[in-house]
Amino acid sequence: MPVTFKNDIFHIYNDEISYCIELSKYSDLLHVHFGGRVEADEIELLKRERASFSAYEGKDNGYSLDVLPQEYTVYGGQDLRNGAFSAKKNGKTEISRLKYRSHEIIKGKPGISGMPAVYAENDDEFTTLAITVADDITGVELVLYYSISEKYPVICRHTSIKNISDDTLRINAAASAAIDFPAGDYKYMHLHGAWIREKHVEICDVHEGFQGIESRRGSSGPCENPFIALMDKNAGEEYGEVWGMSLVYSSNFKISMDMEQYKTLRVTAGINPAGFSWQLKPGEVFETPELVMVYSDSGLGKMSRIFHRLYRTRLCRGAYRDKVRPILINNWEATYFNFNEEKLLEISRKGAEVGMELFVLDDGWFGKRHDDKSSLGDWFVNTDKLPDALSGLAERVKEQGIKFGLWVEPEMISPDSDLFRKHPDWALQVADRDIHEARSQYVIDMSRAEVVDYLIDVFREILKSADITYVKWDFNRNLNDANSSALPNERQGEVMHRFMLGTYRLMDTLTSEFPHILFEGCSGGAGRNDPGILYYMPQNWGSDDTDAVERIYIQYGAGMVYPASTICSHVSTVPNHQLGRVTPMKLRGDVASSGVLGYEFDLSKLDESESKELAVQIERYKRIREVVLFGDLYRLINPFENRSGAWMYVAEDKSKAVVFYFNKLARPNSEIRRIKLKGLDPVAKYTFEGRTYSGLTLMNFGLYLPEYEKDFESCVWEINKVK
Ligand code: DGJ
Repeated sequence: MPVTFKNDIFHIYNDEISYCIELSKYSDLLHVHFGGRVEADEIELLKRERASFSAYEGKDNGYSLDVLPQEYTVYGGQDLRNGAFSAKKNGKTEISRLKYRSHEIIKGKPGISGMPAVYAENDDEFTTLAITVADDITGVELVLYYSISEKYPVICRHTSIKNISDDTLRINAAASAAIDFPAGDYKYMHLHGAWIREKHVEICDVHEGFQGIESRRGSSGPCENPFIALMDKNAGEEYGEVWGMSLVYSSNFKISMDMEQYKTLRVTAGINPAGFSWQLKPGEVFETPELVMVYSDSGLGKMSRIFHRLYRTRLCRGAYRDKVRPILINNWEATYFNFNEEKLLEISRKGAEVGMELFVLDDGWFGKRHDDKSSLGDWFVNTDKLPDALSGLAERVKEQGIKFGLWVEPEMISPDSDLFRKHPDWALQVADRDIHEARSQYVIDMSRAEVVDYLIDVFREILKSADITYVKWDFNRNLNDANSSALPNERQGEVMHRFMLGTYRLMDTLTSEFPHILFEGCSGGAGRNDPGILYYMPQNWGSDDTDAVERIYIQYGAGMVYPASTICSHVSTVPNHQLGRVTPMKLRGDVASSGVLGYEFDLSKLDESESKELAVQIERYKRIREVVLFGDLYRLINPFENRSGAWMYVAEDKSKAVVFYFNKLARPNSEIRRIKLKGLDPVAKYTFEGRTYSGLTLMNFGLYLPEYEKDFESCVWEINKVK
């Protein structure tokens, strides 16, 4: 029984971790511990008798919520720190006092209605503690959910909020979770960046005061990922305590860290309260997104491996979850909008010849879309470009021996489109103002049920119209002017979240109705690359930046949370279209082979030796992809701190490993270095380049790195256990 309640302590535990909550003498939920496994009845509770400026409920000076660690916090009563929750009824206070009412221990893991979440395949995999707290004056009842995994050091939290009054309530903040970590010295890692420079790793000291990360862009965004790793100040890649926190949500989020006067650290994570409000009628329930928390006693490396296993097998779904992914050729950087059927078939024929498995038709196949200035919303095949429609093209591609896939961008509408001319109110807009254009497009109002229903019908027909086995789902701008013509002014604070719920419904419907289709999330690259999307689409385009050197950083950063099976990476042409950099085909192929491999340039221009090189690259990928996509990741050299970068994947049964080493810049007359491998079976024998080594030697002595004399050299080592 991994949840107990004894001597006023809730103990949520598995073999590795414990999460302890005290039910206080005043029925508050106080946070006691989240970390390595403890015996709950041995815990000495924090008796904080520090002088408080306000006596608790006017009587008890020794009990102050302003300094006590709590579970789910409200600002404005005794606690004047950051609050997780705030709600208000007309004429009533916004200052709730959430008091314990009851609790329930549930076998399994409840889902969150209309939203993505980690799931259990059977009830033995998780146990859930659901604690109900309430305030009759504000008129709210909250259930705080804590689901612990049997197998992994993972706890998932979310909160549901019910209006138990007979009046309408407005929620102004509803975090998924808050935790008060004990006084200490911490740092945190986050993944920041920008379009074509996503997921750069930064580790900062947690300082006293307020800090954190957020998105206000209507998507999780390229600038910050909804994730932090809180780290003990002394923790590193393979050692020390780390608490990874990853929000399963694809819209505006905030993860804040508030280090208060006594150096305790309040972490609050969930929907960004900026601009958010939600009207809740009597009896209605609002559910927050889920926060997934991984505790690692062995640094960032272990944290990442746990996230990977969990997200790969219990967040991603569908027919492709456990399958290797097809090697694709995409026509975007090959042709942009300028193509006809003949050109496409020329590219796909060459792709099939060198061993590629899927041809993807990107943007420009519909309406009169000859550039990015029109036609989003007019999802009708352009028969000037494709005389036999999608079905004709798909059949011909199939005859060449590879599969057919398609690009879509459902949540957008061009001002120059028949759909916009017919339904101008379907674009997000602020009444009586001009709408801001970005990439010459508007955002369609996904908060409206009739719009989502319309899109379901349109895309259902498209996906039925041809033999489509893959879809790339794009989303190329932020949600400026995020107001809906269908909602009154006082409810515009709901639009961002309603938009996301509408999008999730569209994704859920199409991915369920077309289970054989492999869906890939894309948002101008990785503008919405988060766990929420992975629930519907088991892979994501890693970045619009296809430069191999930049991709070393981006993919290293993405691997902090996301498994390689979700990180799509393409070999493109040189000079690179984003940077103009010229790198060898080998580096481009090696970097892309460390994720889900694809290609994106005009293959019809390949000469014979390049064709041969591609064929060899593809053959090798087919040999290693099982280990890359489903193995455990070990980071070896951090490219943000070195001239090179390296990481490796080890099969779960340790029978194979693949090491990737990328040299960004060469240095004359440089040192000779060894690299120590990780994660192998110490007593097993492995072969590498015709020699046999024990796992022990490979991990403790290592292998010599090649001495590269030129920039942009790289290698991929295949290491196999002797049978
Ligand atoms: C942005 C994507 O990331 C690109 O790969 C491409 O699909 C374009 N959009 C098409 O408009």
